[in-house]
Amino acid sequence: MLIALFPGDGIGPEIVAQAKRVLDALAIDGLTYEEGLVGGAAYKAVGHPLPPETLDIAKRADAILFGAVGDPDCDSLERHLRPEQAILGLRKELGLFSNLRPAKVFPELAHESALKPEVAGSIDLLIVRETNGDVYFGEKGFRTTADGLREGYDIMSYNEAEVRRIAHAGFQAARARRGKLCSVDKANVLETSQLWRDVVIEVSAEYPDVALTHMYVDNAAMQLVRNPGQFDVIVTGNLFGDILSDQASMCVGSIGMLASATLNGSGQGLYEPIHGSAPDIAGQGKANPLATILSAAMMLRYSLNLSDPADRIEAAVAKALADGARSPDLGGTMNTVEMGDAVLAAL
Ligand code: NAD
Ligand code: IPM
Ligand code: MN
Repeated sequence: MLIALFPGDGIGPEIVAQAKRVLDALAIDGLTYEEGLVGGAAYKAVGHPLPPETLDIAKRADAILFGAVGDPDCDSLERHLRPEQAILGLRKELGLFSNLRPAKVFPELAHESALKPEVAGSIDLLIVRETNGDVYFGEKGFRTTADGLREGYDIMSYNEAEVRRIAHAGFQAARARRGKLCSVDKANVLETSQLWRDVVIEVSAEYPDVALTHMYVDNAAMQLVRNPGQFDVIVTGNLFGDILSDQASMCVGSIGMLASATLNGSGQGLYEPIHGSAPDIAGQGKANPLATILSAAMMLRYSLNLSDPADRIEAAVAKALADGARSPDLGGTMNTVEMGDAVLAAL
């Protein structure tokens, strides 16, 4: 089983190193690793954020463990050379369309939430975010209007096949959990969202055991803070899912806690924390590695069919937190390596 390790930029290498220590400690037979350059690190080394050598490793791998990409030095490059193109390119090239972002409160962290602890304590939800379409991948560019004004544009669209496959992912996830699916859109304004809603309703006929509701994205943002316990599975498009998942992370306690899996239906997956390269804290040992360690657990479970070691990692993270492990984002003083140490000790 080949695991591609793509640490990337900023805090990426720091957090991936801790996840690798945890994987090594499990001493699982038959795991091999190949490391690849992505993002600004790849651009600076070889002139492209997703070099062919990296894409080749990704295509051959059973799973990809990804840190983060993004580098302020690269923010004025032409768009196709920017670090973020690495993650967008991997999602697109490998057909990784189903991005699962679970948000659950560890009881010890309920007081770290931006919400009241009794509200935060009720959170156990999964955002199923589409990651191959939407405004991210539509035609985009700059032009000049008839009045001579500079104009930027990004076309938002979804076709019915794209909506249908992510709807199935949402219903199946709901079926395996508490049987509730909330589809989040903006059908009161956007045609893309009307098509989304129509297709989700069509697909729902195949899942009579799942209770389907619909919510506009602005209300969903509000409800996530007012009463997050109402949600089981949320299925939504690329842009709305991006925004709502960062919001959900603070409801849970920290952006440094949310893991993710992005799947293409063939078993292959990309696993990464939902956060970015955090240039503001890079190189200072302040990054919380738990989201990446939990992403490694998702990798073992979803792509490598190793649910026992996945359970062990998740239990070790819970125990480390119960034993008081806290990085600065969780109100503590432990550095990135010490957080890794705490998980290893618990393991
Ligand atoms: P960010 O998620 O990198 O950081 C937002 C804030 O959260 C910062 O204050 C940061 O210090 C903090 N933070 C993030 N992860 C943390 C962790 N593990 N522990 C403690 N604190 C953490 O978002 P941003 O600042 O908007 O973006 C920075 C760069 O990352 C940009 O270039 C952006 O495009 C990129 N980005 C990449 C990904 C990805 O690789 N999938 C995701 C999001 C953002
Ligand atoms: C994420 C990030 C990416 C996204 C960026 C870096 C392209 O924010 O993975 O959540 O918007 O999908
Ligand atoms: Mn994001």
